[in-house]
Amino acid sequence: MSEQYLVKPGGRLGGRLSVPGDKSISHRALLLGALATGRSEVEGFLASEDCLATMAALRSMGVRIEREDHRVVVHGVGLHGLQAASMPLDLGNSGTAIRLLAGVLAGQRFDSELRGDASLMRRPMGRVAAPLNAMGARVETRDGCPPLTIRGGQALTGIDYTLPVASAQVKSALLLAGLYAEGVTTVRGSGTSRDHTERMLLSMGVELVVEDDGAIHLTPGTGPEAMDVRVPGDLSSAAFFLVGGCLAAEDELVIEGVGLNPTRLGVIGVLEAMGGEITVSNRHMEGREPVGDLHIRRSVLKGIEIPPEVVPLAIDEFPALFIAAAAAEGETRVTGAAELRHKESDRIATMVQGLRALGGDVEELPDGAIIRGGRRLQGGTVDSHGDHRVAMAFAMAALVADGPITIHDTDNVATSFPGFPGLARAAGLDLEVNSS
Ligand code: S3P
Repeated sequence: MSEQYLVKPGGRLGGRLSVPGDKSISHRALLLGALATGRSEVEGFLASEDCLATMAALRSMGVRIEREDHRVVVHGVGLHGLQAASMPLDLGNSGTAIRLLAGVLAGQRFDSELRGDASLMRRPMGRVAAPLNAMGARVETRDGCPPLTIRGGQALTGIDYTLPVASAQVKSALLLAGLYAEGVTTVRGSGTSRDHTERMLLSMGVELVVEDDGAIHLTPGTGPEAMDVRVPGDLSSAAFFLVGGCLAAEDELVIEGVGLNPTRLGVIGVLEAMGGEITVSNRHMEGREPVGDLHIRRSVLKGIEIPPEVVPLAIDEFPALFIAAAAAEGETRVTGAAELRHKESDRIATMVQGLRALGGDVEELPDGAIIRGGRRLQGGTVDSHGDHRVAMAFAMAALVADGPITIHDTDNVATSFPGFPGLARAAGLDLEVNSS
């Protein structure tokens, strides 16, 4: 049985809503809480399939974790308190879970095996295995993909590593392995990737320095110390409503309590450059993470050239941005975004295919796309290819389509955004969930 959405055309979005907790921060709160000694409380936790996969993996390695809805208590076992799981760890659809855990498990005394669903089993793991092995770990892939087999009992040494792609997951894996290494671990970037790991490690007392050029130096020996975390709303989930609001807000759509970490703000910058009317109120900090309320008005969007250096700052928001571009007047050009081909689906191919199915005018590039907007999208049928963000993006396309849109294979929306259909309906989308 697979689930599908039927979204009727038109409608207006309005009201005040809040989106579920940030996925990246929820994973990190569990992992770092588990490696600290003592009790860490997490509020606003994202109880999505991806984060629950991290939770299950940690529990199977002996970490006691209690959860009541969005409140989680992690009883940390300390850096050396994890125990071997009796079975391979199944991380489902989650790239963050498998890559961050690879960093942690590279430093354990025991062996581990990490795998996931069909999508995860196709995703590149050489990018994390190679630098971990350069630290002295023994991480094996199957032709560069999962399963990952990690041999424990290796002595790790800090390295100075320049990331070939701007990947927060790889960066985080190396920093986590660095907690177990002899000497300093340095990670240099090739662009700006999200920095939640660095912020949380610092809050937990780990010795970490970030230089002006982005180089990160982690010195092991202190921390992580247990700490309570309040998880803000996920800007990547809010992104669908940001785009939907620009296309069809009634008066004003407000999304409350969204994380506004500067390394995640690309989607707001791109929409603003396209003419999107977005303002922020109630700015405050939750720990080291900036948070605020987003106000979105219906806007006249125009196509733009998205600068390649912005791509890492909006890496998860391109499915939504492709929809904004299709609805905008003129041409939008995305380049320098080949990484999109290595996400939960090949997001360049799946978005191009879906937009074409709705009558959109799109040209596929090896590292992006040219989207020629200004023509109405028709109704039609789109295959999400099991990609949560592709499914949610096409749901928003119905706001500006001439006929109903059917979206196949939407079950994985629960990996990042449980409750999306209900929230979308409450905001004004005419969305029905069916099983086939
Ligand atoms: C994430 C990092 C990004 C992002 C993913 C979450 C994280 O991946 O696409 O959804 O939590 O670190 P990469 O670091 O591989 O670009």
